[in-house]
Amino acid sequence: MAVKTIDELCNVLLDKRAKAAAGGGEKAVAKHKAKGSLTARERIDLLMDEGSFVELDEFVEHRCTNFGMENKKYLGDGVVTGYGTVGGRIVYVFSQDFTVLGGSLGQMHAAKICKVMDLALRNGCPIVGINDSGGARIQEAVDALDGYGGIFYRNTISSGIIPQMSVIVGPTAGGAVYSPALTDYIFMVDKISIMHITGPAVIKTVTGEEISSEELGGAKTHNSRSGNAHFFAASEQECFRQVRDVLSYLPSNNMGDAPRVATSDPVSRTEMALRTMVPTDANKGYDVHNVIKAVVDDGKFVEVQAMWAKNIVIGYASFDGMPVGIVANQASVMAGCLDIDCSDKASRFIRHCDAFNLPIVTFVDVPGYLPGKAQEWGGIIRHGAKMLYAYSEATVPLITVVMRKAYGGAYIGMCSKALGADSVLAWPQSQIAVMGAAGAANIIFRKEIEAAKDPQAERAELISEYEDAFATPYQAASRGYVDKVILPEETRYEVIQALKAHRTKRQALPRKKHGVMPN
Ligand code: HXC
Repeated sequence: MAVKTIDELCNVLLDKRAKAAAGGGEKAVAKHKAKGSLTARERIDLLMDEGSFVELDEFVEHRCTNFGMENKKYLGDGVVTGYGTVGGRIVYVFSQDFTVLGGSLGQMHAAKICKVMDLALRNGCPIVGINDSGGARIQEAVDALDGYGGIFYRNTISSGIIPQMSVIVGPTAGGAVYSPALTDYIFMVDKISIMHITGPAVIKTVTGEEISSEELGGAKTHNSRSGNAHFFAASEQECFRQVRDVLSYLPSNNMGDAPRVATSDPVSRTEMALRTMVPTDANKGYDVHNVIKAVVDDGKFVEVQAMWAKNIVIGYASFDGMPVGIVANQASVMAGCLDIDCSDKASRFIRHCDAFNLPIVTFVDVPGYLPGKAQEWGGIIRHGAKMLYAYSEATVPLITVVMRKAYGGAYIGMCSKALGADSVLAWPQSQIAVMGAAGAANIIFRKEIEAAKDPQAERAELISEYEDAFATPYQAASRGYVDKVILPEETRYEVIQALKAHRTKRQALPRKKHGVMPN
């Protein structure tokens, strides 16, 4: 046998590389692109810093011989995996290729994903999963299910150690949705992403309901209705920008700190508009986004779950370059009451920030938990308890700014001193009390009001008496529950001072395997 030249051998490799890069072939790629979708590799290019991607396992093939599968082999087996940099830091990635057997997941496809998940965990780097798949590869049967099991296991073990992001840019059906659900965030793209456990056809057979795939499990549905998704994008380009943005606020792993955010916004910038942004009339609404943007660096706020449970606002920002998580009551939606969904939304975010060493700044204006049968029967007790649990177990710096109302259990639940707040700042119009003055007067002065000659006048006077005595920040300040009463315009400066003071905070909780969080 003639010895091959190095050029001949290199050409074999180049040929194989070209075959792997071609995915499912020209026809399948054209069909895929006709749907308006990008290819698996184009998506990686959008995610990673230019030219930084290093591919692994590009010649892996499946080993299935059922149903003629030996004739349907593609180099790479329908998923592109590897690593590259995002903002200069290493990030691992897998990107399913729908042009190869519908991006379906078989044994070797799963093994490739598990390999990068293991590398990401071992090296303490974030992982981004780009999902575009028909789900378990039907021909591979239980091997495919076992593959999913391995992924779910790794998602869980990696949780809280490395940031895990799931991008949905195609169908994700059946149990396959549970890998994304186990990660920190799900990003979806309008009219491209679909997630559901059972599709429209099964639903029609079982329950008789008729619904389109988009309405059942599209990006809008999961961002605004179910709360399963955290980010909504109009295009894949926007979606990958969002992923890069979120990663920029996070450390590579739980042992490190997030990188500083570049800013030239002055520390002592005072914002006089804050005096009127939050009306002193406790019954008037306003948009808390304006408050957040007025105090954070350069007005930049990256909101998480912007379309769901809007009575609470969560997201990332920075103060003097220090990245933080923000939790804020939204007075313009349900008066900012805490309900089931917003408790779930905020408590998970608090735990996420705590896991990744991000200080939490909480802006409070809350009248209480939302009353009603639907809330009680839906389990507001156990859901609301999650807020208490999440703040209490958080050991990152916790800064609370009371802007206006802080009543009852919701005052405690929005990171009061007793739950572990390191600095509680309050504005002059704060009302820190068991409940609003009107409700309080009705209860404690009921007899006096009924006995009065003019009950209405008496009631008004007693309300005002109660307001003067208790609906202020000064009762709480006199007991040390508020560390400092500040002018609204001083908020940015004071939050930055508090963040600096608590930057070296080290708090250890009693050793345990893990807690049992309310569900
Ligand atoms: C094997 C699959 C596949 C699968 C799609 N394909 N899904 N092959 N296993 N799960 C193949 C198709 O046969 C086709 O091959 C190619 O991928 C493209 O699929 P199309 O149907 O032509 O594409 P489209 O019309 O866009 O429809 C996409 C789809 C549909 C909606 C995803 O393919 C579909 O419904 N697939 C089955 C979904 C499903 O039920 N999966 C199992 C879910 S259960 P050719 O050769 O014709 O191009 C599950 C359990 C996980 O995943 C459990 C974890 C615990």
